[in-house]
Amino acid sequence: MLNFQYCNPVNVVFGKGQIAKLAELVPADARVMMTYGGGSIKRNGVYEQVMAALAGRKVIEFGGIEPNPKYETCMKAVDICKSEGVDFLLSVGGGSTLDGTKFIAAAAKYTATEDPWDICLKGTPVTDEIPIGCVITLPATGSEMNGWSVVSRLSTDEKLSFWSQLSFPKFSILDPEVTMSLPERQVANGIVDTFVHVCEQYVTRPVNTPIQDRQAEGVLLTLIEEGPKALSDPKNYDVRANLMWAATVGLNGWLAKGVVEDWGTHAIGHEITAFTGTDHGKTLALVMPALWKYLRREKEAKLLQYADRVWGIRGDDKDAVIDAAIEKTVEFFKSVGCDASRSAYGVTDEVIEKIVLVFERRGTKITECAIGAHEICEILKLCAK
Ligand code: NZQ
Ligand code: ZN
Repeated sequence: MLNFQYCNPVNVVFGKGQIAKLAELVPADARVMMTYGGGSIKRNGVYEQVMAALAGRKVIEFGGIEPNPKYETCMKAVDICKSEGVDFLLSVGGGSTLDGTKFIAAAAKYTATEDPWDICLKGTPVTDEIPIGCVITLPATGSEMNGWSVVSRLSTDEKLSFWSQLSFPKFSILDPEVTMSLPERQVANGIVDTFVHVCEQYVTRPVNTPIQDRQAEGVLLTLIEEGPKALSDPKNYDVRANLMWAATVGLNGWLAKGVVEDWGTHAIGHEITAFTGTDHGKTLALVMPALWKYLRREKEAKLLQYADRVWGIRGDDKDAVIDAAIEKTVEFFKSVGCDASRSAYGVTDEVIEKIVLVFERRGTKITECAIGAHEICEILKLCAK
C-alpha cells in the first residue's frame, strides 16, 4: 500500500426531509448567496424547501450556472459576492452548480492581481475561500464530499480542474427524494460517472490493497444491481438512496487512498466535452473501454481481477477474459442508456486532432502509465465508431 494522508471534513446529512436542517447548518448571521443552475430546483420543490428552511434571512440568489460550469458565469457571481459582502455560499443543484460555486468561493478571495483562472490553469494554490454548504440534487460527481472542482472557459475551449482542502463543503445535504425528478439522461450519466470514478481508482496496478479493492468492487456491484432499477422503478426510494451514497463514496477520496490511480479517461473525456459539449458521463462511457483495450498489458492483473470479482468471468486465455469484461462493461453502460460512439458525440477525426494538439501543447502525461499525445491519439481512434 502506498503512503497516504486523508482528511475529509464534510458534515454529510443524508436522508428524507433533511433540507430542513439548513436552518441550523447555515450560520445564523451569514450573508448568504444561494447558487443554482438552470431552474430544475424551481420545478421539483427543492427551492421551496430551501427557502422555507432559510425563512427570515437575507439570501442573494444567483441562478444560471450551466452544466459544465463556465468561468464567465462564475465571475459574475464573484463580482456580486465582493460588492454585497457575501460570507457564505449555498450551492443547490448538481455537480456543475457545486463546482462553479467552489470556483466562485476561491475566486472571490483571490488576492493576486492575476486572473483567478490561474487557479485552474497554473494550479495557483487557493489560500482563502468563502465557506460553502451544499444541497446536492444529482448523484454523480462526488463533489459534495471532495475538494475538486471542474470549470470550463468558453473563450479558450478549456475545461480544467483544481483541488483545494478549502473547497470541501462545510456540510452536504443528500436527500435521495430530490433525485426522483432527474431525467433518464442524467440518471444514466450519474451511474456511468460513478462507475468510472471507481474504475479509475481500481483498474490500475496492484499494490496489495485488499480493503480498497473490495470497497471498490462493492460500489461497482451495487451500481450494476441498482442502476437499472432507477430507470425501471424511478420512484423507488431505496434504489435512489443506494445510488446517491454510491456516487459520494465513489469520489470522496476513500477508495483512492494507498492505491495507484489512473484518471486518464477523465482527462481525455474533459477535452471531448470542451470541444463537442458532450455530457461528462457519456464521454467516459466512450473512452474507458478503448483505454482499457490500449493498456491491457499494463493493467492486466487488475483487469483480470475486475473480470473475476465483478463479472464472474474466468479462464486461461487472459485476452479473452479481458475482452469479455470490457464487453460486459460496454453492455452495462448501454443498459442504462449510454450507447457511446464517436459518431453520436461528434468526435470526428478533426476533433481528435484538436484534442491531441492540446495534450501535445500541455506536455502532461496521463494515466498510471504516463502516456502522452501519441498514445492518446491511438486510444481515441480505438473508441467505438
Ligand atoms: O441546471 P439545472 O436546471 O439544475 O438542471 C440540471 C442540469 O441540466 C439537471 N438536474 C440536476 N439535478 C436535478 C436536475 N434535473 C432534475 N432534477 C434534479 N434533481 O441535470 C443537468 C446536469 O447537471 P450537472 O450538475 O451538470 O451534472 P453533474 O452533477 O453530472 O455534473 C457534471 C459536472 O461535474 C464535473 C463534470 O466534468 C461536469 O462539469 N465533475 C466534477 C467532479 C468533482 N467535482 O469531483 C468529478 C467528476 O469527474 C466530473 O468531472
Ligand atoms: Zn467524472
